[in-house]
Amino acid sequence: MSKNTYVMLIAIMTACGGLLFGYDVGVISGALLFLGKKFSLTDQGQEVVTSAVLVGSFLGALGAGWYTRRFGGRSANMLAGAIFVVGAFASAASGSAETLTMSRLLVGFGIGITAVAAPLYVAEIAPPDRRGMMITLYQLFITIGIMISYMVDLAAAPHWRVMFGLGAVPGVVLAVGMSFMPSSPRWLASRGRMAEAKKVLDRTLEPAMAESALRDIQADIDSQRSQSHWWLAFRSRAARRALIITTTLAVLQQFIGINAIIYYAPRIFQKAGFADAKAALWATLVVGLVNVIATFITIGMVDKSGRRTLLIWGLTGMVTSLGILGIAFKQFDHAEKQKISLNTSAAPTVAASPSANASADVASPQDLPSTPEGSETLAWLTLVCVVVYIACFAFSMGPLVWVLIGEMFPLQARCTGNAIACGGNYFANFIVGATFLSMLSAFGASNTFLLFASVAMITLLFVLFFLPETAGRTLEEIERDLGEVTPSGQHPVR
Ligand code: BGC
Repeated sequence: MSKNTYVMLIAIMTACGGLLFGYDVGVISGALLFLGKKFSLTDQGQEVVTSAVLVGSFLGALGAGWYTRRFGGRSANMLAGAIFVVGAFASAASGSAETLTMSRLLVGFGIGITAVAAPLYVAEIAPPDRRGMMITLYQLFITIGIMISYMVDLAAAPHWRVMFGLGAVPGVVLAVGMSFMPSSPRWLASRGRMAEAKKVLDRTLEPAMAESALRDIQADIDSQRSQSHWWLAFRSRAARRALIITTTLAVLQQFIGINAIIYYAPRIFQKAGFADAKAALWATLVVGLVNVIATFITIGMVDKSGRRTLLIWGLTGMVTSLGILGIAFKQFDHAEKQKISLNTSAAPTVAASPSANASADVASPQDLPSTPEGSETLAWLTLVCVVVYIACFAFSMGPLVWVLIGEMFPLQARCTGNAIACGGNYFANFIVGATFLSMLSAFGASNTFLLFASVAMITLLFVLFFLPETAGRTLEEIERDLGEVTPSGQHPVR
């Protein structure tokens, strides 16, 4: 097998972790339709089952820092696959809402571990000129996982046990497949196993590059040997900068609203005017497909045009599409308010009861001053804006956050740093998932989208001013770049 094929195989195998992540993000929306009835779940009960995965992922990501540092990325990925298989079967066999919640927590734990271990492991094995593309495969598999779960939801309904049980398949592939993969050379070297590290480098890199990589890794280890505790690694300027940049971007990745769209797309489309549930589901499937296809742009460009260029273009597109959505929904929110006040004045005695909302929903269109539940124009405008937003996310913030988390940390700070950044990502994911619907009803759709647009703008400014280019540099060169200060006291942006 050629070196290129071998490294590619490693990257694809590791990316199966992304498949687990994506599958479980998507599968719950379809399963909930039937679980709600089976276990008589209230809205809150459904929220608990849904967010159990995210809480588990947060805990898994934090624990993965210690585990990966001690046992390496290969072992962490195998463990994650095994945990996921157990969790998938336990979810499928659940007899009560409590056991289901615990099983989902376990699944989340496995996902959190791969989110830390997969990008880190691939970054340590990939050659510098293809590292961005190879870590992006992880994101590609997340998007494919989401698509597959939408399809399984459609095909397997109403059998929710099948939906959960099928998640074990990528878990088995990950656990078994990784056992045939090598350990990362940087981890081996950090454990003093230099001969084995050299062997892996010889199998994955061209001879001259393997020699210099080994020298760089050795020098890196020597310079950090005096640090007796992992937290001392964060005394270095490079580690601190990496931690601030990656954690900020990982949190902002969620606060620009991506999962509000992924989780609630059908509801947004219905609100905009695709009244028929089927039309809304088809529109959602389009979103899933665009998410997959646009990730290929990054695969083709990330190592040539660089991380910054893709992020700057993608974020500009997101600010614009979210801004247009915000303005378009202004008129709708206004009509909605008038609709509610018309209904309230017509039937004041029922205004405070839950059925008041239902009666507002069936108000006859002639009562309303302008658009009823959305309009055809708003529906199509929303679809176009959401598609542009998803495409821009998929070639920028989606993959690049994982690429940067994988490649920016110096060796000693790598596992802990990855764990903190990934933990931040899941925590923010949890907050958005838990608050989006309340935000919609408290502030209206327009203001919610405008809020996401402002966060995207802040992210764009952050990238412009604080993110150095890392494309084509070795991990050791990135560490040197991050540690450098120019005479004016500014960090260089390459
Ligand atoms: C994000 C996920 C999101 C997915 C969508 C990932 O990069 O971390 O939260 O669901 O992209 O494709």
